[in-house]
Amino acid sequence: MIDPFGRLVSYLRVSVTDRCDFRCVYCMSENMTFLPKKDLLSLEELQRLCGIFVRLGVTKLRITGGEPLVRRDIMSLFRGLGGLLDGGGLDELTVTTNGSMLDRHAGDLAAAGVRRINVSLDTLDPEKFLAITRWGRFDRVMNGLATADAAGLKVKINAVAMKGVNEDELPDMLAWCHARGYDLTLIEVMPMGEVGDHTRLDQYLPLSQVRRQLAARYTLEDIPLNTGGPARYVRVAETGGRLGFITPLTHNFCESCNRVRLTCTGTLYMCLGQDDAVDLRAVLRAHDDDQAVIDAIHAAIAAKPKGHDFVIDRQHHGPAVARHMSVTGG
Ligand code: 5AD
Ligand code: SF4
Repeated sequence: MIDPFGRLVSYLRVSVTDRCDFRCVYCMSENMTFLPKKDLLSLEELQRLCGIFVRLGVTKLRITGGEPLVRRDIMSLFRGLGGLLDGGGLDELTVTTNGSMLDRHAGDLAAAGVRRINVSLDTLDPEKFLAITRWGRFDRVMNGLATADAAGLKVKINAVAMKGVNEDELPDMLAWCHARGYDLTLIEVMPMGEVGDHTRLDQYLPLSQVRRQLAARYTLEDIPLNTGGPARYVRVAETGGRLGFITPLTHNFCESCNRVRLTCTGTLYMCLGQDDAVDLRAVLRAHDDDQAVIDAIHAAIAAKPKGHDFVIDRQHHGPAVARHMSVTGG
């Protein structure tokens, strides 16, 4: 699958639920209306659709949410998708999770063929953790991480940098992550969906500033590692670990974008920051054979936008896109 800008699309991110057991302040409002269960693709439909994407050239699948591990029986999907590894066309199966259920599922993820996981964690202070996630339990995430380590999963921590919230803590978080062998990626707040009382302008902290602060304590060496994704990586000389920066607002990363995103209702979004989308659920349900679905996917890829245009400033009120990150899974 090659888009009109010559980008090879080989990475599919799949949101398996829009629900979550947390209510992070930059992600959701406290009172969220979630999709009725009947609108969701069944796990069998998700498996079928992912299989089609893999046949079309997707080599990397990431399961996201919402919080993917809150979906009932989600491990059966992981087991099914794991069957596409080792010669089935899939090179990598990964997951992005808030870590709340890892203590229960890390072993099964590893058994299904997952090797690496991303865990969202913005602070190491239990009180701040509660303030950020509103509903999260810090100790459970710590237990989850320990279980993931024990299961041999390689962990990357994703932390959203927030002005006046975790900004002072980020150098310590880096030390903590690297001491455990975890890579750390910092993310700028993106204007996606309404989040209640909080405004993105209050939350937004440019990573250029964070980088200067980190560079005062650590030696940051640029590394050319390009995962086709939005992160720019440096090696931290003192720890030997990797540090990534995802800067959608201060740096446009769209030129090398290799991904598309499927929501839990079967809508394929071609860009995180645009509304261009194609409904694959109707096609999937109307046809037992896969050709119509394949045609719909090709048509979608042909319409992949050049890039997003996120802006957070005083002139731009409200989100750049109305949907929350939990719809398309980041
Ligand atoms: N801006 C930046 N990051 C966000 N995430 C969720 N919503 C936003 C937002 N508006 C992050 C989560 C998680 C990842 C999937 O996306 O913290 O790390
Ligand atoms: Fe849930 Fe992740 Fe959104 Fe937090 S950022 S509310 S953990 S989906």
